[in-house]
Amino acid sequence: MLILGIESSCDETAAAVVEDGRRVLSSVIASQIDSHKIYGGVVPEIASRLHSEAIVGVVREALAQSGRALPDMDAIAVTYAPGLIGALLVGVNFAKGLALSSGLPLVPVHHLRGHVASNYLTSPQLAPPFLCLVVSGGHSHIVQVEDYTRLKILGRTRDDAAGEAFDKAARAMGIPYPGGVELDKIAEGGDPTAYPLPRPRVAGAPLDYSFSGLKTAVLNTLNNARQKGQEVSVPDLCASYRAAVVRSLVETFLKAAEQTGAKKLAVAGGVSANRLLRRELSRLCKETGRELFLPDLSLCGDNAAMIASQGYYEYRAGCVAGTGLNAYANVSLDMDFRDVKGEGRR
Ligand code: KG4
Ligand code: ZN
Repeated sequence: MLILGIESSCDETAAAVVEDGRRVLSSVIASQIDSHKIYGGVVPEIASRLHSEAIVGVVREALAQSGRALPDMDAIAVTYAPGLIGALLVGVNFAKGLALSSGLPLVPVHHLRGHVASNYLTSPQLAPPFLCLVVSGGHSHIVQVEDYTRLKILGRTRDDAAGEAFDKAARAMGIPYPGGVELDKIAEGGDPTAYPLPRPRVAGAPLDYSFSGLKTAVLNTLNNARQKGQEVSVPDLCASYRAAVVRSLVETFLKAAEQTGAKKLAVAGGVSANRLLRRELSRLCKETGRELFLPDLSLCGDNAAMIASQGYYEYRAGCVAGTGLNAYANVSLDMDFRDVKGEGRR
């Protein structure tokens, strides 16, 4: 079964063709990062406009590179939530038009479920159930993937997402957007023990995260040094901060694995590219006899192959939208599309 995937939830316009949820025939990504860089973050209005400009060419290119044509597709999968509403609407409306004109079924896909599916593309042997740490720019969740379309959230961040925490600390240190990627590189050359940082905990919720205190600690370190006229070693601060964030992510994730008895663990989302996170999880999973699945680096960030992969499983589970499909800035990943208010009845 061939699925055309379309993604436009943030600052990447992407399209891909995937066979049977597992084999990528093509994957095209038009990144807008350079256009947002000068503003220090994604500007929603600019994102929507650039998606509108890019989407036709990106979808055409994805079909051309796959060696197939639109009539060869079995369904069109599109990210309908969560994300920037104006950006999502570009992909959703384009996919609706394409579905209407071609007669193909339209399959709505939750962006974070798509991130989870990046592991299906990387590891053909991976099948639910498994436990997944979903860490992106907007979300941090510990998710029990009971089945391809049945997911349960066991823990979540109470404030900043992991990617957001990396980006904000990077910005405070004068590292340009998207800072998380660069902070990770700089940290490789720093001393992670140089700056003591707190160990964040959420009272009464052992599987939840909180990163805003760590970010404040970095700001305080920078301000104190400035006031005293002292130099801050950016590589050391990056390394200390990265170590603190990763320690929190890993400790809590492994606690969830112990509680649930999960033997198969996976990571997904932009932050799954983090070098230390990958190393630490690999080491600890080996030590504790757990199997770890990491997405290929090319699939960690936003892409449409992961949307087409998850779209395949959603379609098989009977999840098809009408032409009234809307986009949503916030929908929880454990929610079935048919239970989203107003959608099940269309
Ligand atoms: O999943 P993603 O591409 O977009 C969202 O769905 O949000 O995640 C983007 C986030 C950004 O915050 C970015 O800084 C972070 O992932 N990120 C990283 C790394 N690569 C991307 N954070 C830490 N280390 C990295 N290597
Ligand atoms: Zn994403």
